[in-house]
Amino acid sequence: VGIHQIHNNHAELKKQSMQEVRRSLPIFPYREDLLSAIEQHQILIIEGETGSGKTTQIPQYLFEEGYTRDDKKIGCTQPRRVAAMSVAARVAQEMSVKLGNEVGYSIRFEDCTSERTVLKYMTDGMLLREFLTEPDLASYSVIIIDEAHERTLHTDILFGLIKDIARFRADLKVLVASATLDTERFSRFFDDAPVFRIPGRRFPVDIFYTKAPEADYLEACVVSVLQIHVTQPTGDVLVFLTGQEEIEACCEMLQDRCRRLGSKIAELVILPIYANLPSDMQAKIFTPTPPGARKVVVATNIAETSLTIDGIIYVIDPGFCKQKSYNARTGMESLIVTPCSKASANQRAGRAGRVAAGKCFRLYTAWAFKHEMEETTVPEIQRTNLGNVVLLLKSLGINDLVHFDFMDPPPHETLVLALEQLYALGALNHLGELTKLGRRMAELPVDPMLSKMILASEQYKCSNEVLTIAAMLSVNNSIFYRPKDKVVHADNARMNFVVPGGDHLVLLNVYNQVHAGAFKSGYSTQWCYENFIQFRSMRRARDVRDQLEGLMDRIEVEVVSSQEDNVPIRKVTGYFYHTARLSKGGYKTVKHQQTVFVHPNSSLFEELPRWIIYHELVFTTKEFMRQVIEIESSWLLEVAPHYYKSKELEDNSNKKMPRKQGKTKEELG
Ligand code: CDP
Ligand code: MG
Repeated sequence: VGIHQIHNNHAELKKQSMQEVRRSLPIFPYREDLLSAIEQHQILIIEGETGSGKTTQIPQYLFEEGYTRDDKKIGCTQPRRVAAMSVAARVAQEMSVKLGNEVGYSIRFEDCTSERTVLKYMTDGMLLREFLTEPDLASYSVIIIDEAHERTLHTDILFGLIKDIARFRADLKVLVASATLDTERFSRFFDDAPVFRIPGRRFPVDIFYTKAPEADYLEACVVSVLQIHVTQPTGDVLVFLTGQEEIEACCEMLQDRCRRLGSKIAELVILPIYANLPSDMQAKIFTPTPPGARKVVVATNIAETSLTIDGIIYVIDPGFCKQKSYNARTGMESLIVTPCSKASANQRAGRAGRVAAGKCFRLYTAWAFKHEMEETTVPEIQRTNLGNVVLLLKSLGINDLVHFDFMDPPPHETLVLALEQLYALGALNHLGELTKLGRRMAELPVDPMLSKMILASEQYKCSNEVLTIAAMLSVNNSIFYRPKDKVVHADNARMNFVVPGGDHLVLLNVYNQVHAGAFKSGYSTQWCYENFIQFRSMRRARDVRDQLEGLMDRIEVEVVSSQEDNVPIRKVTGYFYHTARLSKGGYKTVKHQQTVFVHPNSSLFEELPRWIIYHELVFTTKEFMRQVIEIESSWLLEVAPHYYKSKELEDNSNKKMPRKQGKTKEELG
């Protein structure tokens, strides 16, 4: 046999075993029942344990059954970008097609689909945007809203819109897939749609609590992992932490201690997983553990239901997650580590019982579980800014938002603040109707403040620069690399990019230096590395910028470069909505009189100009403004006479107040 033949045989074998794996999944025995339930009902709720095969198999079953005839597609939404990409890749592999052909994915600023795509995985936000171009989703025969239990903002909005179009599109099938959570509620919302349950194969999981609360849960995690490693039989460990920093710290601590123990213990393979991890590193968690060794995966709650790692027997759950919250009075978003819900804790424990009987070590007391943790997580719609979504709904012609069919309505004040913001930006008129400007703003897949800034740049003739700034702000906070052991070097490197005026101009400078110099010559990764700039973020910023530039034709904005100093850019940048003025002890926001502070990473941290505009307000240790730019108060009357009164802007001497005290220990991090 020739080499070609051998190769073919090999591929054939691989395909066969892949098909065997497919047939071994818990969902497989229910294939026929499921398909006939789908045929009988327009809307079906599907409930099944994580890992039972909902996401990867159902679209394939539908494809095999002919649901993609007549040029129709099957769409499947995912709340997480990472899940959309990795699942699409897996399904393409199972179907032996090239990713992007018959099977593709679409996430914001990245479209990996083609004319031939019939199985389309996408983020929930992307499907939402598709309503703008195809309000009845005519090109789809089936929509699967997957991971429905996550209740992201976009998923919740999709519920309302899809329920509505299903009424007049009798041929559209709607599947709502969820882990074993909340399915009765989904059923009630969709007019008592039937629930199809896929029985899981779950092994018992023993749950252990601590006797007393843990003072330092990171340390407790490390100790627990090592204890399991030394005393427990074979089986991999999954640890749930709240974010990248914690995960990296935990991995380092583990590595450190293993090094010290040396050959006294068996090999421990330590692997992190979080959304921003490069995809080749992510893939590592799926590789089998070498014999004699033990694998420990340190994850965010991405591993709760979106990803399934085989071989996990032990779960360590400190009981926390990072959660967004929103103050509708001040418009401040914060990301705070809070106790997770009982539902989350139970999902986490469930990860230990997929392949055999397992153990879950909860680093909190049984009392805390019973009395201190909420039953379920509050849906995102009730704790986030709604500006973007309200603009989108208005563009879809939905004017009466108060009576929109929400599964759980957002707080009234949040809705009001979103409407106020859109009015201030000129996207809505005083009757709350969409303006021409608002329609153009909705065309851009970015925050209303950014789309306004891009549209305003036309008048100030600096759209080229503003596009770059908008792109850089979209990849936000991951431009500069600041490893713990090289903080001083990293901060010095960052100082080299500082230009007068503020952070937006620094971002512009970074982009121009990287893309004018480093990306053209072949040494880009190296150059970024040496300058403590994240290469991946810069590549993404370029992609985002290209996409935005591609949309300029549609909204009729000419791309021109600023011929003047940076004044026009500063007038437009960040636009006028978030202003603050220097006052005793910090800054005060102009509209809400809230005390806020310049973030220590800002280029204006030492300078503290009298008037500034900030891109976002976040609460970490204090109320920090991130990405700030210096302005003159008189500009506000020029760019937004409908929003500011001159009285609010009195005292417009543009003197700077030198910073009195140095950075506090906390600020230095
Ligand atoms: O959606 P659900 O949680 O029900 O399961 P799934 O994501 O369809 O996963 C079914 C199986 O495919 C699991 O055993 C996973 O290990 C496997 N899978 C994989 O190997 N690689 C992926 N990227 C996704 C799933
Ligand atoms: Mg799934």
